[in-house]
Amino acid sequence: MPIPQTIAVDGPAASGKSTIAELLAQSLGYLYFDTGVMYRAVTLAALRQLQAVTDERAVTHLAETVHIDVREASQDDGRKSDVLLDGVDITWEIRAPEVDANVSVVSAYPGVRVAMTEQQRRIGKRGRVVMVGRDIGTVVLPDADLKVYMDASVEERARRRFDEVRQRGEAADYEAILASMRRRDEIDSTRKVAPLRPADDAVIVSTDGLSIEQVLEKIQALVKAR
Ligand code: CDP
Ligand code: CDP
Repeated sequence: MPIPQTIAVDGPAASGKSTIAELLAQSLGYLYFDTGVMYRAVTLAALRQLQAVTDERAVTHLAETVHIDVREASQDDGRKSDVLLDGVDITWEIRAPEVDANVSVVSAYPGVRVAMTEQQRRIGKRGRVVMVGRDIGTVVLPDADLKVYMDASVEERARRRFDEVRQRGEAADYEAILASMRRRDEIDSTRKVAPLRPADDAVIVSTDGLSIEQVLEKIQALVKAR
């Protein structure tokens, strides 16, 4: 059988989706597309233009009208790709704790999901893509050739984020990161539309205690086995 053309990678925050998917895409010569940045970009736009994310109609209208662009990184400073919101670089701003704290509210709005899912499907249809998110295998690309659901305990995932913040030289509060992650997991997995869950035909990969290389090997073996 030929190797999978469309690969869906889903899972909770800091399960390692983006790191692994990017390496996998590189090794296959595929496009790597992280759908989370789109929800983060809409959240940032709402916080800036509406000062809050509570007005569902206004946030949905924003999601339908803002222009989000993802490009290859223009600077060699650790960033994988640049994210632009109406032409302005927001790559770092979308990682702020305020965005973390509000993104799950925004992504639970059905109209926001419709607008984002349409764009993601257009990209997915072209094939040769590794797409990362929460609902790629269940909703965005239900016919994906390979579906991977990555997971790890919430404590390990919070520790990974904590380490990332510290490595950037910023102050980090483990308990605050853990609480924010728990809240996001809860909202993402209990929302009515496209909740976070493994597709019935997804392969679940637990990454607790595994290095990035070990996880990548596991997933490359799955690709070969298809
Ligand atoms: O990188 P991390 O796993 O922390 O988050 P992300 O992938 O950037 O996603 C941020 C948020 O966007 C998630 O917590 C979800 O609320 C939402 N999201 C979603 O609803 N559906 C997707 N396909 C991707 C992200
Ligand atoms: O995309 P997602 O939010 O699922 O996670 P990520 O941003 O790819 O990974 C979160 C952090 O965990 C990164 O700093 C990785 O280097 C680290 N990590 C990992 O992804 N996988 C492991 N097996 C071990 C560490």
